[in-house]
Amino acid sequence: MKVLVTGGAGFIGSHIVDALRARHVDVVVVDSLDPGVHRFPPAYLRKDVDYQFADLRWWRPDASALECTAIIHLAALGGVSRAAAERENVLGANAWGTARLTEIAQQMPRLRTVVHASSFSVYGAGYRYRCVSCGAERDGTRAESQLARGDFEVRCAACSGVTRILPITEAAPCDPLEPYGASKLMQELCWRGFTHAPIHTMRFSSVYGPRLRTHDGEATIIAKLIGWIDLGRRPQLFEDGQQLRDWVHVTDVVDTALQLLETSEPPRLVNVCSGVPTSLFAACEAIAEALGRDTVPEVVGGYRVGDMRHCLGDASTMMALIGRPPVSLGDGMRRTLASASGRPTLTTA
Ligand SMILES: NC(=O)c1ccc[n+]([C@@H]2O[C@H](COP(=O)([O-])OP(=O)(O)OC[C@H]3O[C@@H](n4cnc5c(N)ncnc54)[C@H](O)[C@@H]3O)[C@@H](O)[C@H]2O)c1
Ligand SMILES: [Zn+2]
Repeated sequence: MKVLVTGGAGFIGSHIVDALRARHVDVVVVDSLDPGVHRFPPAYLRKDVDYQFADLRWWRPDASALECTAIIHLAALGGVSRAAAERENVLGANAWGTARLTEIAQQMPRLRTVVHASSFSVYGAGYRYRCVSCGAERDGTRAESQLARGDFEVRCAACSGVTRILPITEAAPCDPLEPYGASKLMQELCWRGFTHAPIHTMRFSSVYGPRLRTHDGEATIIAKLIGWIDLGRRPQLFEDGQQLRDWVHVTDVVDTALQLLETSEPPRLVNVCSGVPTSLFAACEAIAEALGRDTVPEVVGGYRVGDMRHCLGDASTMMALIGRPPVSLGDGMRRTLASASGRPTLTTA
């Protein structure tokens, strides 16, 4: 097996590359070392990997890259706020880069499998909530007037009761709410009509683990919480801090990708998530415990119109594939923060 990993110099890609090399698989990486992500080539780049530093949009693969038997496609410009600020760049790079990859893939005579990385952001407005009192279901929209009153829960449309988020399954409709999610859905759609090899799609919730960048402008909420607590600062939480999120450890992502590489089953769509609802408060506790610190988050009370109250995935497809439960947040944080070399804040962006 010889695998082409696009975006293989990034956070998740680097772990997948390490896992492939640990199995003695030959690896070709194409990565643009996008300056919005990397100030310098990351220190974790390996000597035993063929890195081709190029933007997918203009990449001209050499004969060695065209010999690959599988592709794991991770290259994408990330971040909701970056996508809002750089619409053309993010929509363009993600969609066009993938479109170019589909053409390159067609020229790969030995290609057997493509594993494509997408995101929960494609679900957007697809989340459903069920009323605890009357059982009615609704979407997750909240009026600004409600948020301004400090009432942050999604209320039942029939009885105003409290609702619970339903874990989102792969069957949920895609309805991205902003350009990053739109670009990830466009990436998925680029493979329509591609018949040269099966396309397996992974949709990640929010991923954490060693090498997570905690201090760049696009840091996810979990990365920011880690960064603040590690620096001894009080985490600043919007709303009431009881927002639920679904964080998945990078080990689960790696194991899912490697299983999909080897499966002989028809194309799969897999949510890669923990399936465990965790509040921002609880995440702060898990991080503080892993760091051996005390922390008391500060609820700053603000809100952003359009933010989702909760996010939660259904991990059953992933669990069946990898044959084990996802890594727990406590365990995952200990693995992430245990060694100085693994400390996210100590890695160069
Ligand atoms: N990290 C998460 O929580 C998360 C959540 C959902 C989905 N994802 C998806 O997972 C994938 C990997 O994410 P990550 O967190 O490792 O991001 P990352 O920014 O660390 O890595 C992405 C890599 O892709 C490269 N890249 C970007 N555009 C490129 C292009 N046009 N051509 C070549 N290289 C390009 C960047 O230089 C970077 O090294 C992405 O597709 C992302 O959308 C990530
Ligand atoms: Zn109700």
